[in-house]
Amino acid sequence: IQVDVDKPTAKIQPTMWGIFFEDINFAADGGLYAELVKNRSFEFFDPKMGWDIERTNPDSFHFIITNRGTENPQNPRYASVILNDNKSSLSLVNEGFRGMGVKENNTYHFSILASLAKQSDVDLKVSLLDSVGEVIGETAVEIAGEAWKKYEVSFVCSKTDPKARLKLLFEGNGKVSFDMVSLFPDDTWKNRKGGLRADLVQKLADLNPGFFRFPGGCIVEGRDLSRRYQWKKTVGKIEDRTVMVNRWNTEFSHRSAPDYFQSFGLGFYEYFLLSEDIGAEPLPILNCGMACQFNTAEVVPLDQLEPYVQDALDLIEFANGSTDTEWGKLRADMGHPKPFNMKYIGVGNEQWGPQYFERYAFFEKAIMEKYPEISIVSTTGPFPEDPFFKYAKGELTKYKAALVDEHYYRTPDWFFENATRYDDYDRGSYKIFAVEYASHDRPGNDNNWLSALSEAAFMTGLERNADVVYMCSYAPLFAHVEGWQWRPDLIWFDNLNSVSTPNYYVQQLFGVNNGTDLLSIQLDGKDLTGQDGLYASSVWDANTKEVVIKIVNNNKEAKSTSVVLNSAKKFASKGTMTVIGTTDLKVYNTLENPDNIVPVNKEIKLSGSRLKLDLDPYSLTVIRVKQK
Ligand code: AHR
Repeated sequence: IQVDVDKPTAKIQPTMWGIFFEDINFAADGGLYAELVKNRSFEFFDPKMGWDIERTNPDSFHFIITNRGTENPQNPRYASVILNDNKSSLSLVNEGFRGMGVKENNTYHFSILASLAKQSDVDLKVSLLDSVGEVIGETAVEIAGEAWKKYEVSFVCSKTDPKARLKLLFEGNGKVSFDMVSLFPDDTWKNRKGGLRADLVQKLADLNPGFFRFPGGCIVEGRDLSRRYQWKKTVGKIEDRTVMVNRWNTEFSHRSAPDYFQSFGLGFYEYFLLSEDIGAEPLPILNCGMACQFNTAEVVPLDQLEPYVQDALDLIEFANGSTDTEWGKLRADMGHPKPFNMKYIGVGNEQWGPQYFERYAFFEKAIMEKYPEISIVSTTGPFPEDPFFKYAKGELTKYKAALVDEHYYRTPDWFFENATRYDDYDRGSYKIFAVEYASHDRPGNDNNWLSALSEAAFMTGLERNADVVYMCSYAPLFAHVEGWQWRPDLIWFDNLNSVSTPNYYVQQLFGVNNGTDLLSIQLDGKDLTGQDGLYASSVWDANTKEVVIKIVNNNKEAKSTSVVLNSAKKFASKGTMTVIGTTDLKVYNTLENPDNIVPVNKEIKLSGSRLKLDLDPYSLTVIRVKQK
C-alpha cells in the first residue's frame, strides 16, 4: 500500500465530521437539557401529566388549572392550590422524565413562579424523594405578595438515585398560584444555570465536531405546519417559550411516548452557545413552508411564504447581526453580544418535488441578496434511490445551493458497497452534506460492531472524496434507554449515565483524526474500496505534521500488509496506532457493560518510510506518523 505524502489531492474541510442533533428519543427534555421537572408549566395536552396530587384532607382543597390564553398566549396555563382551613394541605409530586437522576452531595436549584392571593397564608415545602419515598433533600420557599415573582432556593441531595421525584407540599389557608416549577442540578455543563447535562455535552465535545446541525430532522417540518419548529418561539425568556408537542410523541409514533413535548428550554440560543462551546460551526435547518411529506404534506401557498423566508433572514440577524439590530439585540440581551459567526443555513429537511423547489427559490433569492456570504444547504428528499432524488439532482442545477443534504439509513451491506459512492460524482456543482446516516443491521437495529464497521468502510469513501464531500454526521445522536422511538443511535443514556456505542467510537476516530489535506492511498495503483476486504483513506495534518491512515479490515482473519510513505520527508521511527475491532460482529456496548468494544491504543514502528501492519480481524485501524 502506497501513500503519496507529498502530493495532496484536495483540502479536507474543517467541517468534514460533525454532529446531527434532533430532539428524538428524549434527546432534549429528559436528556441533554438538564431540567428534572416534566411538564413544569402545565402545558402538556393533559396539564396534570407528570404530576400526582396527594391530599391529607380531600374536602378542604382545590387544585385548579387556569388558562389565560389571550393575556399570555406563549405560556397560557398556570396551577393554583386553594386550601380552606389551617390544617389542610396538598402535595404535588412530579415524576420527572422516567424518574429524576440525582446525585449524592450535588446541589439542586429549585425555582418557581408564584403569586399568593390576598389574606392567604400558605407554606411551601420542597423535598426530593428517592425511589422508595424517603426524603433525600429538602428546603422551604416563602411565597409572599400577589405579584408574580420568581422564587429560588437550593439544597444538597444526600443520595444518588436514578428515579427520584420532587414533592411540593402546600400547607395553610388561602390560594397560591404557580407556574414554571423547575429543578436543575448544579453540575451542568460549564456550571451554567438552567444548563445542559455535562456528561452528555462532554461526549459531544470528545467527537471533535466540525459542525453542529440542529434542530432536526423531522421536527423541523412538523406533522402539519402549525407544529413546525419555529425558532423565534425558542428564544428569549424561558417562561415565554411556547411548549409544543414533539413530533415523536406517541400520537405520531409507534413507540410509547405520550409525554413527549418540547419545552424549548434548549432553544436556538442554547444551540448556538453549545456549538461555540464544542468548537463546531452552527448549522440550523429551517422549515421551508412544507410540513412532513410522509404525514400531512401540508404546504403554505407561495403568496403566504414571506414569514417563513423572513424567519431565515431574522435568524441570520440573530446569529450574526450587530447589537443595534432587533434580533442581534435579543442575542446580546440573552448574554452573547459577540456574533456567533454563523456561516450556513439549511432550507427544509427531507423535502422533495416541485413544491420544494418553488419554495426554495424564494429563500435562496432573499438570503443571497441580503447575506451573500451565507452558504445555503438544500435537500434532495429522503433517500438516494427514490425517484425524487433524481428529480432533485436535475432541479438543483438551476440553483446556487452550496451544499446538498443526502440521507442514508441502509443495511451494513449497502454501506460496504457504497464506499465508492462518490468516486464518480459530478464535481462541477454543489458539495455533499451527508448528515444523516446509520447502518441498520435488521431486524434488531442494534448498535453492534457490524453496523459500525460498515460505517467505517463507507466513511473512508467519504474521506477519499473530500473534494466533494464537505460535511458528514451519524443520526440520530441520542437515545434514552427507556424512552426511544428510533434505533440505532450514537449515544445511549439513562437518567445518570451514558454509553458510547461502537458507532460513536468510529465517528470519534474519524473526527479526532480529521487532518487538513487529502492524500492518495492505493494498492497496485487503485484506491482501497473493498479489494481483499480492505478499505482505506489517508490525510495529512498540517497542524501536527502527521500522516494519518485509516484502514478497515472486513475479514474474519487478521491481515498482514505494509504501507510505504512516498515522500521526501523524514518520519519519526515510532507512530501511534488506534484499533477497534472484534470477531464478534454482533457485540455492542450497554450502560452496564460499556467497554465490550472500545478503541485500544498501540505503538507502531517504522523502518525508514515503511510500516509493517498486522490488521486485526474485522477492525478499523488509525495510524498517525509524525514528520521528523
Ligand atoms: O434521524 C431520524 C429521522 O430520520 C429524521 O428526523 C429524519 O430527517 C429522517 O427521516
